Amino acid sequence: MKDVKNHFEEEAEEYDGLILKLIPNYKEMIDSLIRSIPFESSKPIKVLDLGCGTGNITREVKKRYPKAHVTCIDLAENMIDITKYKLSEFDDIEFHVADLRDFHYGENNYDLIISSLALHHLQTDEEKITIYQKIYEALNPGGVLLIADQVLTSSEYLDRTNHEQWKEFMLKSMPLKEVEEKWAPTAYKEDHPAPLMNHLDWLREIGFKKVDVMWRYVEGAVFGGKK
Ligand SMILES: C[S@@+](CC[C@H](N)C(=O)[O-])C[C@H]1O[C@@H](n2cnc3c(N)ncnc32)[C@H](O)[C@@H]1O
Repeated sequence: MKDVKNHFEEEAEEYDGLILKLIPNYKEMIDSLIRSIPFESSKPIKVLDLGCGTGNITREVKKRYPKAHVTCIDLAENMIDITKYKLSEFDDIEFHVADLRDFHYGENNYDLIISSLALHHLQTDEEKITIYQKIYEALNPGGVLLIADQVLTSSEYLDRTNHEQWKEFMLKSMPLKEVEEKWAPTAYKEDHPAPLMNHLDWLREIGFKKVDVMWRYVEGAVFGGKK
């Protein structure tokens, strides 16, 4: 996790431009997550954003839910600092520099828990399942979990195909050397995605209902469930 923290501490200032070059259809993915939130826009929902990065998802939540109270947590202080700056117009957002594995989530505490492109940094299936259990406890009855993240398929062939498509996507905006010597090795070192079908099984086993996939493209997916 030290590598992940250092990576995002260093990348914070260029993150917003870079993520558009690294993640195919990043904006469409976030749009799908935001559209999947089932509450009335006037509701003062209580939200937790796990691995908030530079605040892109929280900003979209606040656009649709002006009365939302959001707790943003991230491992990297520099990412949190940029989120604070970008969202400085709001006085109902809390910020915590914290590891999402150690954060105290509480019980029956949130209407909505969101996480975008963060959980695949957890190294093992056990860590991912433990976080899902904490999330389930932390949600109010009727509360919703929505995740946008990098996932695997159920076939090695499809994983290889998606990986090649990811590299082709990056080549549209950066040289081959950068793709092969920087971004592909970083992914092998820091990314630990699990098959989407496993995520859905884990969520159902923990007790989530209405588990579903709202969007999927190359290695990205938006999925979630309701308590
Ligand atoms: C690729 S960025 C995604 C940021 C933002 N959610 C988005 O979609 O634009 C991943 C973020 O997750 C954070 N992160 C990774 N592992 C984490 C952990 N264990 N606890 C808290 N934050 C973590 C990183 O510091 C980074 O800011």
